[in-house]
Amino acid sequence: MSAKSESLRCLEKLLAECDFSFLSQREQKHFEKRLLTHFPRLFDLLVPVYQHRYDLYYHLRSLLMELAHGFAQRSSKLKHRDKSRLAEPDWYRDETMVGMACYVDLVADDLADLTDKIDYFKQLGIRYLHLMPLYKSPEGDSDGGYAVSDYRTVDPKLGTTKQLKQLANKMADAGISLALDFVFNHTSDECDWAQQAKAGDQEHQDFYFLFDDRRLPDQYDQHLREIFPSVRRGCFSYLDDMDKWVWTTFNNFQWDLNYQNPAVFRAMVGEMLYLANLGCDILRLDALAFVWKELGHCCENHPKAHMLIQAFNCCLQIVAPGVVFKSEAIVHPDEVAKYIHPEECQLSYNPLLMALIWNSLATRKTRLLEHSLATRFEINTDCCWVNYVRCHDDIGWTFDDGNAAELGINGYDHRLFLNQFFTGHFEGSYAKGMGFQFNPENGDCRVCGSLASLCGLEQALEMQEPLLEAMALARINLIHGIIMTIGGIPLIYQGDELAILNDYSFLHDPHKTHDARWVNRPKITPQALEQVRLKNSAAYVVNQHLRQLIQWRGQYPVMGRGTTQIIRLEHPHLFAYVRQTEHGHKHYFVANFSDAKHQISGSKILPVDQLPRLDLISGQSFSASGEWQLMPYQLLWLKESNG
Ligand code: GLC
Ligand code: GLC
Repeated sequence: MSAKSESLRCLEKLLAECDFSFLSQREQKHFEKRLLTHFPRLFDLLVPVYQHRYDLYYHLRSLLMELAHGFAQRSSKLKHRDKSRLAEPDWYRDETMVGMACYVDLVADDLADLTDKIDYFKQLGIRYLHLMPLYKSPEGDSDGGYAVSDYRTVDPKLGTTKQLKQLANKMADAGISLALDFVFNHTSDECDWAQQAKAGDQEHQDFYFLFDDRRLPDQYDQHLREIFPSVRRGCFSYLDDMDKWVWTTFNNFQWDLNYQNPAVFRAMVGEMLYLANLGCDILRLDALAFVWKELGHCCENHPKAHMLIQAFNCCLQIVAPGVVFKSEAIVHPDEVAKYIHPEECQLSYNPLLMALIWNSLATRKTRLLEHSLATRFEINTDCCWVNYVRCHDDIGWTFDDGNAAELGINGYDHRLFLNQFFTGHFEGSYAKGMGFQFNPENGDCRVCGSLASLCGLEQALEMQEPLLEAMALARINLIHGIIMTIGGIPLIYQGDELAILNDYSFLHDPHKTHDARWVNRPKITPQALEQVRLKNSAAYVVNQHLRQLIQWRGQYPVMGRGTTQIIRLEHPHLFAYVRQTEHGHKHYFVANFSDAKHQISGSKILPVDQLPRLDLISGQSFSASGEWQLMPYQLLWLKESNG
């Protein structure tokens, strides 16, 4: 019997046993049609993952019920949106798409206040807003909300579920998509499941990885990377009350879920559908690389993690097909790429571009950027990069050591240099960052800091040096220009549109002081917003430039559904790429990553028979036969002469 007919036979049996009477006749028909299309794939994904379970059939039946309930709860407005998304499945590739990530309580007082501020984002040109985790989480340290205690309750300090739904609705009316976090690798230790596990309930103890002694944790630990080595060595935390060890990849209060248990998958599908039904368009798959654990494996990027994510996506196709996944895999670029697929994650952060942009600023050299991206930028054309320079997290140097070695760069030593440079310990550095999670065993470290402070603005203002300030602003504008044009959705981080500096106030908060990432999570005050009105203030310069870039981006289809080719210039300081539509329309870009002027002959970029092209940014014209001179940190955006 073919695999498909086996899955359909299974579906037939399941349907005979499931009571969907809470759905109307029409809804039942619609739902069953979706099942017929997607269940075979779901079955093919789940059977190999859970074949060790004698009770798999029972879990499939509960999963089907979970899906049916999710379908019943999806509003007709959202079902309508699903329909229009299905008619235009690559909606997120549009040239007008520009994202922003922010914490509700750092850009507003609460959800109600944020609803009143939608216009701010709209005016800036934002089309998708990622609200950092806003669910109920422990008091004090909650890893910035990434320790979720209840997905179905909004953090009372921020508001209510009703207000969140209203916000989602109002955002949709303003043409802004809502992105929410799906934190499915772990829950907080205050989550109901964890509480029940603590109380001794075996069923819920099986939701996590709990061990009576160190025997297994020691064996696992041999192969695991430590994500927060300054919190704790190894990946397990001792629980006094239970006299047990629990798997905690991140903080001690973030318990990793055990996906070897199909009940966990089913339960998290329920939470996911709840979030989808709130009215979000994008789910950010937090820490997705860690979701499958196996002894002897590093427990990151396991093939079964991919199958699970695809299975989650399949469930979404059945209930909420208008919603897409965004992968947050901050891992080796080979592994980042594996999450990107229309049936897995349609969107993915681009940590390689991010890290290499910072590398090029530090070294003033573009070789590693050009060499790495030339082979690594291209992804499935139905998918899309999310390009960013800063976010709420640290910067990790996730480039490929092989790519570096091909250029004679030693990856390990080079990372040491980058950490020194961005924490201001390197002679002549302009950057003011902070080290994060130094690992004394292997010397590993990451960097925190705001865009503006890492680009030198904080130092320039302290030194009251207008020339240094101009350089810092030019750096910010350059790298904003790159994420805006290189292909994919640019994602701006809160406050970067105002050139906000590091915020050191976290050092005085006992719940935050150990976590340097808070230096780049500033509160956006009314005073900071006022700055943009002051002509020639740093905020003004950065803001004006960003607005202009967003406006241009939205004018040219080539910035949306086009392809990118990195041009192999082999110039030490310049980096170039071309965007192209399927109809052959092209825009060329050249960036100077150095604080000195540099020249290049136009024929290295433009075909010789081409008419001169206008640079949108400087307003100057450039021809293939000319020698081009680029000012420090200049970006050329050469559009087509006819449009
Ligand atoms: C993600 C988040 C990060 C958090 C971690 C654990 O990487 O971006 O802030 O600490 O997951 O949830
Ligand atoms: C590591 C992890 C990433 C996490 C980050 C938090 O880079 O790979 O998932 O967000 O640490 O600091």
